[in-house]
Amino acid sequence: MESSSEKQNARDSWLRLLRYLHGNQLHFAIGVLGALIFAAANASVAWLMKPFMDKTFQSKDAAMMWWVPAGLIVLFIARGAGDFVQTYYMGHVGRRVIKQLRGQLFERLLLLPISYFDRNASAIMLSRLIYNTEQVATVMTDSITTVIRESLTILALVCALFYYNWKLTAVVFIVGPLIAWLITIVNRLFRRYSRRIQDSVVDVTRVAKEALDAPRIIKVFNAQDYERAQFEVANEYNRRSSMKLLRTRGLANPVVQFIAVCFASVILYMSIGQAIRGEITAGTFFSFIAALLGIMQPLRNLTNISGSFQQGIAAGQSLFEILDEPIEPTTGTRTTTRARGEVEYREVSFFYQTRDKAVLNNISLHIKPGSTVAFVGKTGSGKTTLMNLLPRFYELTQGAVMIDGHDIRDYDLRSLREQIALVSQDVVLFDDSIRNNIAFGKSASTEAIERAAKAAHVMEFASQLPQGLETTVGERGVLLSGGQKQRISIARALLKDAPILILDEATSALDTESERVIQAALEDLMKNRTTLVIAHRLSTIEKANLIVVMDSGRILEQGTHTELIAANGAYAALHRMQFNV
Ligand SMILES: Nc1ncnc2c1ncn2[C@@H]1O[C@H](COP(=O)(O)OP(=O)(O)OP(=O)(O)O)[C@@H](O)[C@H]1O
Ligand SMILES: [Mg+2]
Repeated sequence: MESSSEKQNARDSWLRLLRYLHGNQLHFAIGVLGALIFAAANASVAWLMKPFMDKTFQSKDAAMMWWVPAGLIVLFIARGAGDFVQTYYMGHVGRRVIKQLRGQLFERLLLLPISYFDRNASAIMLSRLIYNTEQVATVMTDSITTVIRESLTILALVCALFYYNWKLTAVVFIVGPLIAWLITIVNRLFRRYSRRIQDSVVDVTRVAKEALDAPRIIKVFNAQDYERAQFEVANEYNRRSSMKLLRTRGLANPVVQFIAVCFASVILYMSIGQAIRGEITAGTFFSFIAALLGIMQPLRNLTNISGSFQQGIAAGQSLFEILDEPIEPTTGTRTTTRARGEVEYREVSFFYQTRDKAVLNNISLHIKPGSTVAFVGKTGSGKTTLMNLLPRFYELTQGAVMIDGHDIRDYDLRSLREQIALVSQDVVLFDDSIRNNIAFGKSASTEAIERAAKAAHVMEFASQLPQGLETTVGERGVLLSGGQKQRISIARALLKDAPILILDEATSALDTESERVIQAALEDLMKNRTTLVIAHRLSTIEKANLIVVMDSGRILEQGTHTELIAANGAYAALHRMQFNV
């Protein structure tokens, strides 16, 4: 059974959806006008039947030879015009609503915190952005016009029936509530199944997307069977849910029509009786029949529409879920053009929302402006997490992180991130030219981009390519080697020229020789800024001003290379292992 709060939700969502029509009222009204013309043309057939028939068969009026065919043509011209106006203008409104919804969703997705993306598969958001927006718009335009058009057609036809014979009033008033009751029951079922279908479409998309993203891994691990099985589950579930919807929809029509036919039969019985008793003319009789038959199709459309309504509302609710998701908290207002680059972690503890175990435990660390700090430690010890806190990718659980003596939460988010350049562990490139990947939204001069490209040794391989820096890198940079991608992401960080630089395994994909060359470039770069480096190869960090050794979310020891070697602790052990000394 549907709860009243669910109903309330559906109603609220519907009202909220209707607000998207704002600004499109004129086009919407013209669309409705088209629907009205269409409905009027449809209903006139029944209305005109009587005068045409009576004049032809009783008065034998010769002019009818012209009037009837001409009338038919005029009616169909009007009907066609109404149809076009309605389709075009409602389409216009629908596409605008889709565009607006997509724009809002995308805007929201850009501002959602990283933790949201940890929790939600990108395929789900993609399918909502593409598929659910279409559904919503359809409901708001097509379905609304259908309801208006068909109810008006029915109304006009029912009026015709009344006008020609008042006795039908009684019958209509008995059947009306019955049909209404039937439609609400069908509605309930529809809403349940539409939500299920949307979820199952999402599953199909997700499995397919994951497979499409990783063709190499699937092939080399011969994981086709595994992927096939996963896809089959999602695919089959989708088929089943769709079948349930189909069954409901398929049943709805015959049931509603059966009731309509019973209704028609009663009227036939009554009107044939009246005709036999000579109370009505042949024209009146045929007008009845035309009106009755004319009511069937609109009734059927009306019943079907309730399905799309439920689908649209369910789709709308899934969009509102994203739109209502809180965006990154921008608590602070402090702005700075260029920070000095003093970084301090004060008793910082942190755990990811999805895990209950702390990933960082009571970390305190002071980093002088302009110095280079290297982080080493086992995989999973929390190095990347510690870096992630600085640009506020995640909110601290406990403690504080300061830049230039101010809590990072006091900074305006944009201004804070303006101070930080990041070369992350997994390089992200966009399907665009190398040049645009380096500039990445910044309006940098050609010289500046080329300087950065040269320093990061991008030029070395770009100059060999036929289109140089204009070469596109393919989706996620698939057309480049791992090292080439890494160089581009280093160039991007160089170009940003921020006072704080985070290098998370920035040179891990490079061969020893290019690493040495880029290292030199990076060292140049590090000179006048605070640099946080994570590296597994100890040779790259020996020159750091401070080395921090991490283990299970804690700082095990810290000091310069010489100090740590002398202390003969974990770092010294690591060093011995790597260099076999
Ligand atoms: N988004 C996340 N959600 C939940 N847990 C996470 C997330 N990212 C990392 N973790 C967990 O936090 C711990 C620390 O991860 P982190 O990435 O900081 O390690 P790391 O020191 O950078 O390791 P590596 O040297 O392999 O890069 C790991 O146990 C990891 O499983
Ligand atoms: Mg890491």
